Amino acid sequence: MDNSLRLFYALWPDAPVRKALSDWQKTLSGRKTPPQNLHITLAFLGEQPADTLDELKGIVKLLSFETILLTLDKTGYFAHNRISWAGMQHVPDGLLQLHQDLVFALEERQISFDRRNRFTPHVTLARHSDRPRARSFDPVLWHASHLVLVESRTVSGFSGSRQEYVVLAEKKSDLQSPLR
Ligand code: 2AM
Repeated sequence: MDNSLRLFYALWPDAPVRKALSDWQKTLSGRKTPPQNLHITLAFLGEQPADTLDELKGIVKLLSFETILLTLDKTGYFAHNRISWAGMQHVPDGLLQLHQDLVFALEERQISFDRRNRFTPHVTLARHSDRPRARSFDPVLWHASHLVLVESRTVSGFSGSRQEYVVLAEKKSDLQSPLR
């Protein structure tokens, strides 16, 4: 599509969470997600016309949510595409509600997004990865407070191409506490 952008909505971690997740990545095989790209996708829009950008940014601004305490305490594996990921044994209601609110906002505006899979909140840690071995590790606590709209750009270099994620719009949670 000409003049289009590849977009997704996500929860965006802060630096300490990125660091903890990169320690977790060391236990895994495969191509690791660069620390600056780690995130939880809430909705993947794919290619969208550039002239819808204002509306898509507006959705970020209108959604309201309180800081969500995420306990990343499980390593998952998508066998079909060989992705190892960090996830949660218990998905908090606040995260499900935020996802639901986003889906509603997109549907209301008839904006297309990828809905092939059930929402399985996760942080992709490694691609082309072997199934993680069971191990014990300290859970990563993430006070998720940044909702973002991100553009995914493919950047070509000498050693192949890589994804660069550019935050186009950002919303901080309404309250830092109480947590839920
Ligand atoms: P992931 O959430 O499993 O890591 C940008 O491509 C982000 O959107 C990635 O985090 C990616 O996978 C997620 N995503 C969700 N559905 C996608 C799709 N159909 N194609 C590409 N990326 C998708």
